[in-house]
Amino acid sequence: MNFFGALMLRAKAVAPSNIAVVKYWGKRDEVLNLPATSSISVTLSRLKTEVCVSFDENLGQDEVFVEGERANEKTYGRVVAFLELIRAKTKVKMFARAESFSNFPVSSGLASSASFFAGLTLASANALSAEFTLQELARIARLGSGSAPRSMLGGAVEAVAGTSKDGSDFEVLQILPEERVPFALLVVMVESKGKAMSSRDGMNLCKTTSPYFHRWLEYNQELVDIARRALLDGDIKTVGEVAEASCFAMHGCCMSAKPPLFYWAPNTLSVIEQVFEMRKEGVLVYVTIDAGPHPVLLVPFDLVPIVRERVSKQKGVLDIIEERAGQGAKVL
Ligand code: PMV
Repeated sequence: MNFFGALMLRAKAVAPSNIAVVKYWGKRDEVLNLPATSSISVTLSRLKTEVCVSFDENLGQDEVFVEGERANEKTYGRVVAFLELIRAKTKVKMFARAESFSNFPVSSGLASSASFFAGLTLASANALSAEFTLQELARIARLGSGSAPRSMLGGAVEAVAGTSKDGSDFEVLQILPEERVPFALLVVMVESKGKAMSSRDGMNLCKTTSPYFHRWLEYNQELVDIARRALLDGDIKTVGEVAEASCFAMHGCCMSAKPPLFYWAPNTLSVIEQVFEMRKEGVLVYVTIDAGPHPVLLVPFDLVPIVRERVSKQKGVLDIIEERAGQGAKVL
């Protein structure tokens, strides 16, 4: 109950961001937000979003705040659509107030929608005392953002696309717990002019205009199988090679769309070149990039100081966030 005697159900959750080593890019069902290919990511230990949700009888509409500010129209619409689904599933009619705080820049290609929707799913389920299984939570989180289900679990996580029409065989599986992921991730923040296009719009553009889209899907599914095996074997070289293959195929698909879609900034390419240079010198380092300009480097733990030192000297590099695999979303 709140101060006025009206019913208010409140909960808070924290969810980590994740970085895909084998990308999700493309949907097989727009409404159910079902991925057209499986994907594998590493849940991060430091970059997180805290989400607080209050379902409140006194509210006449949903309220959404991001970093203390009212959400813009696009974000508001997306969150309200998600809350409608939660209400439909739980038969609750109350509107909600959702507030989120991230400890990293949102909408910059660092998967803030993944941590946000994983946190919102868990907080909402908890506030409403809804007893969902992990896979049910993952399927709900997916309706908000395709990469969000992977943030429900820690370590290296596979999102299995499944083939059923209703998405009932979509699931998330932990491949490795966080302590067994054998590399660090260096998130290299580069100077850029901001995000080109939302991933939702980018995926749609690729599906409708890229001549490579169908081949991309087949190829990426093969990469998922190789990456899973390599992670289980602790084979960093193969994981890194597959991560680059998936990243460049995804971005190749974007660049071949009409109009061409470039998520990279000139500084992104400079860091890629530097990674290739270091590898020629025998340093085991690989790069991946989500739908934004910031490269993420996969580096064995003992090589982190060398790689960090080299990349930090690169022109256009603003900051380097040192990450490793962490735990999945939690209720606070
Ligand atoms: O979850 P979305 O709709 O923001 O899409 C994520 C897409 C990528 O970050 C580029 C790839 C991925 O698998 O996370």
